[in-house]
Amino acid sequence: MTDIEVRKLFPLLNQDIAYLDSAATAQKPQCVMDAVAEFYTRYNANPMRGLYELSLSATDSYEQARQKTADFVHAKQSCEIIFTRNATESLNLVASSFCERFVSEGDEILVATSEHHSNFLPWKKYAKLHGAVVRYLDCTQEGLYTAEMLKNALTPKTKIFTIAQISNVFGRVNPIQEFAEICHEMGTMICVDGSQSVPHIAVNVQELDVDFFAFSGHKLYAPMGIGALYGKKNLLEEMPPFLQGGEMIDYVSKEKTIFAELPQKFEAGTVSAGDAWGLKSAIEFVESIGFDEIERRELHLTEYAMKQMQEIPHVNIVGDKLPENHHGILTFTIDEVHPHDIAEIFASENVCIRAGHHCAQPLHILLGIPSTVRASLAFYNTDEDIDRFISVLKKIRSQMGYE
Ligand code: ALA
Repeated sequence: MTDIEVRKLFPLLNQDIAYLDSAATAQKPQCVMDAVAEFYTRYNANPMRGLYELSLSATDSYEQARQKTADFVHAKQSCEIIFTRNATESLNLVASSFCERFVSEGDEILVATSEHHSNFLPWKKYAKLHGAVVRYLDCTQEGLYTAEMLKNALTPKTKIFTIAQISNVFGRVNPIQEFAEICHEMGTMICVDGSQSVPHIAVNVQELDVDFFAFSGHKLYAPMGIGALYGKKNLLEEMPPFLQGGEMIDYVSKEKTIFAELPQKFEAGTVSAGDAWGLKSAIEFVESIGFDEIERRELHLTEYAMKQMQEIPHVNIVGDKLPENHHGILTFTIDEVHPHDIAEIFASENVCIRAGHHCAQPLHILLGIPSTVRASLAFYNTDEDIDRFISVLKKIRSQMGYE
């Protein structure tokens, strides 16, 4: 695909900006916005409640979205996909319900230190509630986790290990399949945050053999407000619901509650059916581009940007030296310049990047850097976006009064 063909698909990009914040949220193609409008124009009613035709079509579209999502990550059955608001809610669900069912006094939960706060805080909270201990697996300064490191950290008491497939700061792919094998040999479950991986690489949860896999729709070109949790059926069946309310029960009386089967047990209240229809469209969109093309374009852009960044004095890239270990995530610092000053200069030139700790403060503490700047790419970016980014980057130190 040419740059012009790609850009035409994203109306918001048709203005004077270089959008380099796709790890925070991706821009939406017209087809996704049309799909959301289509749901509200043609199918809108409360799914799973009415017996009239409109409600049945709302239910049908919602279940089609679930099947599409299941196929996208290669879940065995669609009931293994729980729709949530986003990855944060998916991870809170796992932490709460898994700990309630499987974790007790003296058990351990192993959390990778580079995790986003959404895969860090819930484990701290629910471990404490059930008398368990959270232990942490530190990575190297380059963001590397190895099988050896994991083997040394697991103990017979470790109930679950949790880690992102791709960190939102480093962009490196963790060897999840190997980690799952190591965990399972020890009787430990593995939970994976796939928020930063599903937009960039093909995922097969059965091949990876993960027990839980969470992601957000909005980083995958879908609307905000829809996310998913994949969980192995046998585990989800044993876990208690996270939220309680409408449509998640089979029977309720003053004395007794019988919860519904999967997946409804985990989807209390009115669901985001319009956004789910948008997610289905986003997945179809990604499939129509194909991960070969997405990876080819993103690697080219990453190489093009990194090569130039590495030549600018005082610019320090966080993580690995090789572009293939970044997946479009370029986190950096500039000697003596505060990331928020850097972000303001970029903003004044309409270059959209993110500064701060990127909701990964424990990682920044481990690295000994309070905050960083992150440019993050998607396949819709172009060489011109990178040129613009590099030309601002080159003048930041002089603009701040340094040589
Ligand atoms: N988790 C998103 C990020 O890393 C918001 O920017």
